[in-house]
Formats: sequence, C-alpha cells, structure tokens
Amino acid sequence: MPPVTAPFPLSRPRRLRRTDWMRRLVAENALSVDDLIWPIFACDGEGVTEPVASMPGVNRLSIDNAVGAAEMAANLGIPCIALFPYTDASVKTPGAEEAWNPENLVNRATRAIKAAVPDIGVMLDVALDPYNSDGHDGLVRDGVVLNDESLMALERQALAHAEAGADILGPSDMMDGRIRIIRQALEAHEFPDVTILSYAAKYASAFYGPFRDAVGASGALKGDKKTYQMDAANGDEALREVATDLEEGADMVMVKPGMAYLDICHRVKSGFGVPTYAYQVSGEYTMLASTADQGWLDREQVVMESLMAFKRAGCDGILTYFAVEAARTLLDLG
Ligand code: PBG
Repeated sequence: MPPVTAPFPLSRPRRLRRTDWMRRLVAENALSVDDLIWPIFACDGEGVTEPVASMPGVNRLSIDNAVGAAEMAANLGIPCIALFPYTDASVKTPGAEEAWNPENLVNRATRAIKAAVPDIGVMLDVALDPYNSDGHDGLVRDGVVLNDESLMALERQALAHAEAGADILGPSDMMDGRIRIIRQALEAHEFPDVTILSYAAKYASAFYGPFRDAVGASGALKGDKKTYQMDAANGDEALREVATDLEEGADMVMVKPGMAYLDICHRVKSGFGVPTYAYQVSGEYTMLASTADQGWLDREQVVMESLMAFKRAGCDGILTYFAVEAARTLLDLG
C-alpha cells in the first residue's frame, strides 16, 4: 500500500510530534526490558571483578560474582544472559578439548546460576575459539579450518552445555551443517527442549576485536575468520544461511554484528517471520561507550537510540553489553 498523505498544509507531520504524549501515542516501535539478552564474561577465581581494558565499563566476573550479576539482571526483568569464558592460554589445545569438559568454566557457571537464579535464561555459545590454541571456531589442520571434523567437536560441546543446564545454545561457529548435528544430538540425548539460537548470519567483522580480548582469544588467533564467517559485501547469502539453519532445526536466528547490518536484520525478519535477534557486538559497545566517556556523546541517549534501531529493523531482541543500563533507563531507575 503506497503511503497516502494530503499536501501541505492539509498535512503537517509536525502535528504528531508536538508533545511527548503525542509522540508516545504514535510511536511505531517500542523497546522493552523483555527484548534484552545480556552477555557476561566469566573468569576463574573468587570475588573477582576484572575490567576488560578494551570495553570500558565491562568486567570479567568469577562465578560467584556472575551469579550476583545474574540475580541483578533477573531483578530488572532481563529474560536471558549469555555467558562467555575467559580461558587461560594454558587450557587451550589444538583439539579444543576443554570445550566439552563438563567442569569447564561456563558449565560450572551455568550450574551455579541455574541453581541460584532459576528464572533467568542462560545462553551458551557453541564454538571452539575460547578453547582452541589456534583461536579459531573450528579445528585447524595445516592452516585450514576443517568443517566436518569440527562438527564432531561442536556436537560434544553442545551436549556438555545442555547437560550443564544451558537453556539456549548459540552456535556461533559458522561451520556448515552444525545446526542439524547439534539438533539431532540434543534429540538423541533427551534434550528436546534446549533451544537453538543460531548465529545464522555472522559476518567476518573487525567489530569483534574487543571481545577477543575479553575472552583471551586475541593473542591466540592465527589469521582471520574469513573462510567461515560471512563477507560484509553479501546480503542474499545471509538469507540462504538463515533458511538452512531453520531447515536444520534452529528455533531463533541472529544477525551479527548489529548496527552495520540492520538491512540484514530487516530482510531476515520480513523474509522468514521467525524470532530474530541482533548482536550489538563488543566493538559497537566500545565505540559508543568510549566516545561517551570522553563527553562527546550522551551515553544514555545513544544507547537507547541504537537499541530502538534494532526494533525498527524488525528484531525481536538484542544481545547487548548495555542491557543492564538500558533496563534501568526503561524502568526509570536512572
Ligand atoms: C565466538 C564469538 C565471537 C563473538 C561471539 N561469539 C567472536 C568471534 O567470532 O571472533 C563476538 C561477540 C562480540 O564481539 O561482542 N565465535
């Protein structure tokens, strides 16, 4: 339907912008606390709150503090957290075996959080990069990131995470065929209710830089991830990736990064009508947070504006390091 408007002055678009109550009345989109997933970095130790240098305001938390953070998030009404491990170099191996250690950091953290805060969802990434001495999401041989061999490792990792009590698995590895393998394994091992939020359209992006610092993967990464993560030039390919992941058993899909890929968010949501999420990634966080720290941007306003952009693009929710402050703003807690 083409937009119908009377010519000026019969139509004066500013009539609908005159007052706050009118603007609220005609707002097309709304952001709510229910739309937020908060990524948290876990680390070893007790009582540890360790700043991530490249993400001002973001900390790595030992499990006890991560439990406290989850409690705080639940009290704000944030539906879900996503846990990422800071992995010491000594634990990383070429086979990434730590990924499916039932006692690895995220599995222990998940059990602790589910026990203390049962009403918040816990999402875990399925990808080998925190555990792989090559820093890649899959297994590497002779400099090549192997697809089918990696699937077996990812399957083991997914099962270990399900066993630990993860509610949502987020395969972020971009290997071909991984959703089917993981879904079949979950069905076969009686985890039919574990949800898969697939990182379906995940781009090879420099915006992940600060995250790799946060999880201790920057030093390890050899080369780049362009042979498995998507090329920023492509949009149609993202739709094929989403279609494939849905056919293989994904329940929800993600576009990542977020702000530079809002066209993809829009195309995915309008094309498939499935629960669609964007990841406002570490580099996006750092751009806004560090500029606001200089006093050059109003932090609260740019955070809310950037999150609303995801809603306008069609996203059902956003993974964002700003989740807690956005929730406080939305709840008027200041
Ligand atoms: C791991 C993973 C990455 C992110 C989430 N899961 C990094 C990568 O693919 O290199 C990035 C998140 C962020 O930048 O905030 N596969």
